[in-house]
Amino acid sequence: MRHFLTLADFTKEELLEMVALAQKIKTQTKQKKYVPYLQHQTLGMIFEKSSTRTRVSFETGIYQLGGVGLFLSANDIQLGRGEPMKDTARVISRMVDMVMIRTFEQSKLEEFAQFSNVPVINGLTDSYHPVQLMTDYLTMIEFNKDKSPIVAYVGDGNNMAHSWLMLASIMGFELRIATPKGYECHNKIIEQAYQFAQQSKATITITNNPQEAVIGADVVTTDTWISMGQEDKKEEKIKAFTNFIVDDKMMKLAKNDAIFLHCLPAYRGYEVSDEIFENHSEVIFTEAENRLHMQKGIMVWLDMHR
Ligand code: CP
Ligand code: NVA
Repeated sequence: MRHFLTLADFTKEELLEMVALAQKIKTQTKQKKYVPYLQHQTLGMIFEKSSTRTRVSFETGIYQLGGVGLFLSANDIQLGRGEPMKDTARVISRMVDMVMIRTFEQSKLEEFAQFSNVPVINGLTDSYHPVQLMTDYLTMIEFNKDKSPIVAYVGDGNNMAHSWLMLASIMGFELRIATPKGYECHNKIIEQAYQFAQQSKATITITNNPQEAVIGADVVTTDTWISMGQEDKKEEKIKAFTNFIVDDKMMKLAKNDAIFLHCLPAYRGYEVSDEIFENHSEVIFTEAENRLHMQKGIMVWLDMHR
């Protein structure tokens, strides 16, 4: 049995199998063919943080596959009142067929997985957002940006940046990450990316200069400056990130046909200007829709490997 906790646990070939499944299921869905790959299966969805896309896409996705989703807000289950993660895992995984968790520390997710009898999917932690990055890769393929692209990530060294490091270093493309000083990615994750890059021939650049990162890029991307759980750091972060907005001036440094990706929710006037967001909205909202299809691919793949 496999869990989907970080992209680092998978080979390039395995990730491409999931993408291929997602493409097939997306085509079928568009033709209104709902193939019951996961008939009668239940997906437990534990949320310790808010969500729009993750909740709607997983719940709709499992339904379209012939199963049913259970929305379990941590506030409403005993986990929120202190029942241990390992007990929650041993109970829930005896009743459902798969679990998705959105939580804080990666170690909480790992603990759940360790005690779970069924596959566990990372729906975002403080360290990673792997289902989002698989979706971003699917979107890059659809917009013809998957053949040796240069990707520039401008912003916080957070869960999104970490997941970009994993995706690029496994798939083998060029990634430049620009963060303000003091907001860099975790060293351990950068080191792991450099290690993977030796095999995949990825090029990874880490800088504090956003303009340098964006020059000649095929894909420009960013994320909110204030991740969930960091609300108390808002003022200091806004000051530190002033030159990191992706606006027209920044985007002009990229290739003429560069696409802009954003995992959403977006905060216009902070990490991205309203103009750039609206000019690239077709790609951004296709990216959002692709969460639905990509995650169906991941769930079906995990079911095939148990
Ligand atoms: N991108 C993303 O995961 O969005 P939600 O927080 O709305 O789920
Ligand atoms: N970095 C953001 C991503 C939201 C989808 C957060 O963790 O809040």
